Amino acid sequence: MSEVARHDAWQAGDSYDGYMGRWSRQIAPRFLDWFDAPERLDWLEIGCGTGVLSAAILARCNPGSLLAIDPSEGFIATARRNIADQRAEFRVADAQSLPVEAASRDAIASALALNFVPDRDRALAEMRRVARPGATIGFYVWDYPGGGLEFIHAVWQAATALDPAARELAEDRRFSFCTPDALHAVVTRAGLASVECAAIEIPTVFKDFDDYWLPFTWGAGPVPGYCASLSADARQRLRDHLRDALPRGEDGTIPLKARAWAVKARAA
Ligand SMILES: C[S@@+](CC[C@H](N)C(=O)[O-])C[C@H]1O[C@@H](n2cnc3c(N)ncnc32)[C@H](O)[C@@H]1O
Repeated sequence: MSEVARHDAWQAGDSYDGYMGRWSRQIAPRFLDWFDAPERLDWLEIGCGTGVLSAAILARCNPGSLLAIDPSEGFIATARRNIADQRAEFRVADAQSLPVEAASRDAIASALALNFVPDRDRALAEMRRVARPGATIGFYVWDYPGGGLEFIHAVWQAATALDPAARELAEDRRFSFCTPDALHAVVTRAGLASVECAAIEIPTVFKDFDDYWLPFTWGAGPVPGYCASLSADARQRLRDHLRDALPRGEDGTIPLKARAWAVKARAA
């Protein structure tokens, strides 16, 4: 694992929910509306985590089957615990080497995960390999480079102001390919056709500063991993900096937004 990736630490399903799952749950149905798949398809989901998009696929798309994979044993265990549905199977596996037969899936989807896969071209090639002719392949990633994931962007801005070395870890820098043009290029390189890209935006409103800050101290994901690596004093300085910098509504809420870029394309 590279030095910058060592904070990603995807393990604990429960802490993930407070950090990202609550927002991921809002964006999943919006993506599926846009993905617009017919019923009874054989789905594959890549980087399913705790099963947020999986649950939405089962609830909204009436799949014939759903195989959902993720390399994190902790997340897969949480997904299995949370989702008891005979159509769904959760398996520990990596996007770069799918344990799936060639030309066996009608719909392939991935939520907020592709940026964490070390070799994206290989992951796209794998998606294409397992897609049936005419299958739809789609995914979404946060708009890190545009600062579109405001609650995370604010942390990296504060962290960099306090310690310029944190810039290396900032997700806008690590995931600079998360732009419509670069995502279009990744998909086109994989030989997929009819590529479409859309922005999906959701409000991320935090009840108060604790609601914003505490999930960062629980451990799953790049920012929580970074916070865990700081000394108690440095963590307190980061907390104080953010408390002063974040916008506040009149009712004390912290009103932010999150934008994702969604991409879909067709396998020949
Ligand atoms: C931000 S979480 C998204 C989880 C879930 N899809 C959601 O929307 O809530 C990123 C996920 O990518 C997964 N991931 C990281 N590297 C991966 C890889 N090489 N192949 C597949 N998934 C990967 C992580 O284990 C984690 O579950």
